[in-house]
Amino acid sequence: MSKNTVTITDNRNGNKADFDILDPSIGSSTIDIRSLHSELGLFTYDPGFQATASCKSDITFIDGDKGILLYRGYPIEQLAEHSNYLETSYLLMYGELPTQTEYQDFISLIKKHTMVHEGVKQFFDGFHHDAHPMAIMVGVVGALSAFYHDSLDIEDPRHREISAHRLLAKMPTIAAYSHRRAHGLPLLYPKNEFNFIENFMYMMFGMPTEEYVPNPIAVHAMRLIFILHADHEQNASTSTVRLASSSGANPFACISAGIASLWGPAHGGANEAVINMLEEINDPKEIPKYVERAKDKNDSYRLMGFGHRIYKNYDPRAKIIREACIELLDDLNINNTPLFDAARELERIALEDDYFLERNLYPNVDFYSGIILKALNMPLNMFTVIFAMARTAGWISQWMEMMEDTEQRIGRPRQIYTGATTRDYVNRSQR
Ligand code: ACO
Repeated sequence: MSKNTVTITDNRNGNKADFDILDPSIGSSTIDIRSLHSELGLFTYDPGFQATASCKSDITFIDGDKGILLYRGYPIEQLAEHSNYLETSYLLMYGELPTQTEYQDFISLIKKHTMVHEGVKQFFDGFHHDAHPMAIMVGVVGALSAFYHDSLDIEDPRHREISAHRLLAKMPTIAAYSHRRAHGLPLLYPKNEFNFIENFMYMMFGMPTEEYVPNPIAVHAMRLIFILHADHEQNASTSTVRLASSSGANPFACISAGIASLWGPAHGGANEAVINMLEEINDPKEIPKYVERAKDKNDSYRLMGFGHRIYKNYDPRAKIIREACIELLDDLNINNTPLFDAARELERIALEDDYFLERNLYPNVDFYSGIILKALNMPLNMFTVIFAMARTAGWISQWMEMMEDTEQRIGRPRQIYTGATTRDYVNRSQR
């Protein structure tokens, strides 16, 4: 066996073959098993793709054991401290931090794309008055492909770039409209005097009758939420975007698929689930009862906002946002309410309890982002929408990278078929 290969032997018949080991710039090496079936007649079984690399990517690196998250090599802690969402988006999309000129050009460009076609606004009237905004997001973002087909040639790099800019820029407008329409509030046009986050807050909470003054504390907390959620390599929603795109589908449809995937409570829906859980607990004295339920093997109840599929030591994003969360509650002077007290007490107990310590179940980023959004009076059903807006930078970057990757193929997982073997059709009268 040469140094950079592994040999796989089928012990049933002694057949063996060598497979290359591919080395990443950092992280675990990977066995290239593309020829496994032609060499040995075997496939691999990996539900949830937990041991399978689906692509090569230069964008985001995670070391779940060490609690490391890098965007294009830059530690998340540094970006959270120094950058803003649009600069981080530029970094994710283009691979480098922008120069001053590139930065200013990018900001102006995104500002030019923030409005939606007037026809898109009619869509919002068609939804049921109490539709979940994520349902609206899935529909409206997918429908953008019906309005912006002037640049839908996915084989043209310039078209791809324009679509990516449109998605990034229009997402806050669509998100805010999905909330405003449900409450009978006027849809506000974006305002170029505001930065990206301020503009979203204005379209969410502003009124045409009065001047809107953004709250810097809220803007700071939202900036962090946006940067921390901007990308997370091949998670469920990003893999969904890549899988949908692998067939050549247009980017608006693919991002809409990503939004649908993000909606689930085990992914982007977790921060909303955190507040539902805290509202159910309501009284800090009730927490031990819920903790016991979470520990009970015969009870499927789980503490929302605890645990992570990848971060088994701690979630670096949770560490950053925890500080911001504490600061925010102090700044807004909203301690001593049952919900926030329950949150603090739950965090304390879980960080001391052997069950959680042994399983490395730390509060994750959703635990704190849920509390922050609640403290900012963000409607509960907008929490996952905010995650979707932030993750759009990652989705479009991963999509752009994939479209340039000559090794990509249409996504087509295999299966272990466990159904009936071949049998003959029996006439209905004889069954
Ligand atoms: N509360 C109580 N027990 C838990 C929790 C929890 N939140 N999470 C995991 N466990 C326990 C499991 O019961 C299991 O116990 P066992 O070893 O005695 O059987 C052990 O911890 C390992 O759990 P797994 O399900 O194998 O861990 P996995 O990595 O597959 O799951 C997940 C990760 C889905 C995030 C899980 O921790 C969970 O459901 N958390 C709550 C939902 C949540 O917060 N999701 C947000 C994820 S972050 C994001 O999307 C940005």
